[in-house]
Amino acid sequence: MTIIDGKKISDEIKLEIKTEVDELLAKGYKRPHLAAVLVGNDGGSITYVNHKVKACEQVGFKSTLIKFNDNITQHELLECVKKLNNDSDIDGFIVQLPLPVHIAECVIIEAIDPKKDVDGFHPENFGRMSIGLPSFVSATPFGIVELLKRYKIPTNGKHCVVLGRSNIVGRPISILMSQKGIDATVTVAHSRTENLAEVCKSADILIAAIGSSEFVKANMVKEGAVVIDVGTTRIKSETTSCWKLYGDVKFDEVAPKCSFITPVPGGVGPMTIVSLLRNTLLAAKNKKCL
Ligand code: GUN
Repeated sequence: MTIIDGKKISDEIKLEIKTEVDELLAKGYKRPHLAAVLVGNDGGSITYVNHKVKACEQVGFKSTLIKFNDNITQHELLECVKKLNNDSDIDGFIVQLPLPVHIAECVIIEAIDPKKDVDGFHPENFGRMSIGLPSFVSATPFGIVELLKRYKIPTNGKHCVVLGRSNIVGRPISILMSQKGIDATVTVAHSRTENLAEVCKSADILIAAIGSSEFVKANMVKEGAVVIDVGTTRIKSETTSCWKLYGDVKFDEVAPKCSFITPVPGGVGPMTIVSLLRNTLLAAKNKKCL
């Protein structure tokens, strides 16, 4: 059993990005610039956005963090998106999700200029990704595919079960896994799937993105399977009052059955961040037509 080291791979990719940034700067181009919009005080969102900003520094990007209280109106947030769309210094930006319930996420996402949509959430990017055209691929699915590639995990003809159907992870990774070059046979399973444990157990590659801590138990996993854990449930410890991150997979009992497994933390998470950086570099290069 191999534990997939997402931190190590993401560090390698950061070095690759930094090298490209240095080359751009040497040619007289400006630093790629990512902006992140954060609404409200959700602890998880604050942590993720801070990681994204820190990662920008590590590869030599410029970053701008824009914070709003959770009483911001949809109209005000749309104005911010328009400003970022029109700011020629910004190559790409993200609006961290989830947003407060009074703001329609789809309205905000559709207002983002697809050329700056480095999250790949805009329907234009999602649609282009779905039919295999060049696009921004959303960061977590992009990171998972890269992990599989760098660990040379065979996918051709394998049965991949994606547990979860969110727009951010489950849906896009299910599309990517069936695309030419990856060539898996994909089943999308979710909370309404009948015989869910059996469906999961039929997977050669199980991608758990259901958002429920330690949902996947040993009896749901085939001997020798590859298990990719996308879960990031933060739970406060009763004793220390520190937050702990839990995956969607009960790691200790599932890992011994696997050929490969990602840990939480240190698996998919760092790859999500580095994939956002890759998309930002791509946005900067697209703008300059390099
Ligand atoms: N919330 C959870 N994951 C993501 C992500 O990849 N991008 C944004 N913008 N929000 C998220």
